Amino acid sequence: MDRIRIRGGNPLKGEIPISGAKNAALKLMAASLLTAEPLTLTNVPRLADVRAMAELLVSFGVGVQVTMAAKFGEGDTMKLEAREITSVFASYDMVRKMRASFQVLAPLVARQRQAKVSLPGGCAIGARPVELHLNALEAMGAKIDLAEGYVTATAPDGLKGAEIVFPFVSVGATETAMMAATLARGTTKIVNAAREPEISDLGNCLIAMGAEIWGLGSSEITVVGVEKLHGAAHRVMADRIEAGTYAIAAAIAGGEIELVGASHDTIASLLSLLTKAGAEVSSTPRGLKIHMNGTRPKSVDVTTAPYPGFPTDLQAQIMALMAVADGTSVVKEKIFENRFMHVPELARMGAQVRIDGDTATVRGVEKLKGAQVMATDLRASVSLVLAGLVADGETNVGRIYHLDRGFDRLEEKLSRVGADIARVPE
Ligand code: UD1
Repeated sequence: MDRIRIRGGNPLKGEIPISGAKNAALKLMAASLLTAEPLTLTNVPRLADVRAMAELLVSFGVGVQVTMAAKFGEGDTMKLEAREITSVFASYDMVRKMRASFQVLAPLVARQRQAKVSLPGGCAIGARPVELHLNALEAMGAKIDLAEGYVTATAPDGLKGAEIVFPFVSVGATETAMMAATLARGTTKIVNAAREPEISDLGNCLIAMGAEIWGLGSSEITVVGVEKLHGAAHRVMADRIEAGTYAIAAAIAGGEIELVGASHDTIASLLSLLTKAGAEVSSTPRGLKIHMNGTRPKSVDVTTAPYPGFPTDLQAQIMALMAVADGTSVVKEKIFENRFMHVPELARMGAQVRIDGDTATVRGVEKLKGAQVMATDLRASVSLVLAGLVADGETNVGRIYHLDRGFDRLEEKLSRVGADIARVPE
């Protein structure tokens, strides 16, 4: 298995192209199940999770055609055609690898009126149940059976519109309800919907496919079901988590990086913290610029929250920055339990972190030291790479299949801006 080797100390200079968003692309791909006509996605990131979703869709009979971008920094194009769905079964093996594959349940039930999908595995960051997804489908008239680790959902007469009130905000359940509602009879109102930009990206694609949706980006989404959806072309939004990660890379390593394609609005909560920590952030015609000139970052406190709050998917990365900041910072994780698995690994590099329930107290140290560390989940693993950029000596990150799930050619992007980073076979 490969590892990533980083020799710390180089400042970063240049530009990093931001890829299409993983968390948008996976749901957009699932949405192709809603129509018999082709859905063409552009700006698709090159990721293991995208390949896994493509494989799952192929197993349902979807034709998937990928045209790889010739130029570094441009996304791939993917044509998905679900002319006839030949299977509605998603096995444990398929869903275990990636929790987002559970998102095929709603479009399958909406179009085929039945599906059997394994309960998900995915990142080891807490229980991550799916009852909100299932309650939403039940409210829309589906019959749900749970047996032997599988969900069987049937709606022989089709789904019908309903009022769905979520007791708390869930990205995936909002997407499930929205996709299911596009082909339901009547109107669906989703109350306490998540407001993440990836949901709006999915909603806009569904609208391009003929869906009738109002209220995207707000906490109340209304969908009026239509008989059929049609083909469309859609550009996947830029990955705000990738953009945020490289913004933190510039802040931790020092230097000046332009994030081409990044948008200020989608990571405003992070950028205001980075400014407080001492970075200069400016918008450019092509994206964003982050400048940090040799000064030690100042500590800031962080609490994760649903959008537009600070994203849980950037918590590990900001903690790496706080590990070398001047002062003590309090990092609270309010979305997932058990999402501090990067802490023992950062500690191997000399980080001073104390955990108490959902709160980590990080006492910044002047220097981290390179070490052999292990990726434990997708976002945690990239925090170790960030720490490696500034640590003395060599850091080796193992189990990097976690990184490949969600970061498009990470080592190439970072080495092009001056980091000493390489993928080495073991
Ligand atoms: C999505 C993102 C993930 C991100 C998360 C929160 C994708 C592929 N993944 O995950 O990267 O970290 O949003 O921004 O888009 N919950 C329940 N019951 C449910 C559903 C959720 O209890 O039925 C809980 C979860 O355990 C968690 C919280 O609700 O504690 C939020 O989860 P949710 O927003 O659903 O996250 P995902 O959609 O899985």
